Amino acid sequence: MTRNPSQPLGAYPRLRMRRNRREPWVRRIVAENVLTPGDFIWPVFVHQESAAKTPVASMPGINRFSIPALVDAVGEAQSLGIPCVALFPVTPPERKTADGEEATNPENIICRATRAVKEAFPDIGVLCDVALDPFTTHGHDGVLREGDVANDETVEILCRQALVQAASGCDIIAPSDMMDGRVGAIRDALDKAGFERVRIMSYAAKYASAFFGPFRDALGSKSTLGKADKRTYQMDPANTDEALREVALDLAEGADMVMVKPGLPYLDVVRRVKERFGVPTFAYQVSGEYSMLMGAIERGWLEPSVILEALIAFKRAGADGVLTYSAVDAAKRLKSG
Ligand code: PBG
Repeated sequence: MTRNPSQPLGAYPRLRMRRNRREPWVRRIVAENVLTPGDFIWPVFVHQESAAKTPVASMPGINRFSIPALVDAVGEAQSLGIPCVALFPVTPPERKTADGEEATNPENIICRATRAVKEAFPDIGVLCDVALDPFTTHGHDGVLREGDVANDETVEILCRQALVQAASGCDIIAPSDMMDGRVGAIRDALDKAGFERVRIMSYAAKYASAFFGPFRDALGSKSTLGKADKRTYQMDPANTDEALREVALDLAEGADMVMVKPGLPYLDVVRRVKERFGVPTFAYQVSGEYSMLMGAIERGWLEPSVILEALIAFKRAGADGVLTYSAVDAAKRLKSG
């Protein structure tokens, strides 16, 4: 029999809810959700400059890594129990073009970084984004034709991008571009090339969000995008039924896992997706969410404990895992109790 939880199974004074909160050990045994490093996917920025690390001004504590520095950082992440990293390329401006061809270059920074990581640490998962924005002079996720992103022509390029990533050893292909039909097309392209074991995690419900600002700063795509926005392909923040429809489509096209993005402001979407489909569901705590917390912590306005508090919220909402820039820091905090 299921009961309405708003009708308590007892009443004060015999029932005292505080009994189960009294000591740390009892709080632990009644905890409904747990956060472990196994829940984290760590997004990292890779550049091809000589400096090992260059800080991202709008993301306190976050650096763009050279490939050798990336490999070291991934080693640390693996030793902390983090199962997967997501690699994002900083493309030098001279390699950007209107059609983003650099995305399909097997020697681009992302392919080289993937090979280096998989060679050093074959047991950690590598996720690669599929979208053209790091490679285009205009900062859009696809090619522009008559002022709009051309869907089918873009999908054709995305398939070639996915193939060079898979050939480099990428474990999870993650289309983040929101083009219609991309998941099915990429699945077919991967299978045809013999990469049927490579997974697809689709950015299924991705919203046109200002919370991506610091990420675009990190990649250098903020200036290229300028005052333009991505509202003709990313979702309207007003919608949730539409998110379920997007997820249903991506699953029908062969997505192995789905993602909701941004994270905290969209936990209702995470909950609905998980309840409706019961598939591996991830949330991306994006750059702006990270910077809000870290900016306030830096100023002493918030306690660092907000980091784990924000992350457990994803578990409570039903997410199976979280992409978070705090992964390494959070894993250390979990370890030290
Ligand atoms: C690229 C992409 C973006 C993010 C992940 N992949 C930016 C965008 O769509 O403009 C955002 C991640 C973040 O803000 O942390 N399509």
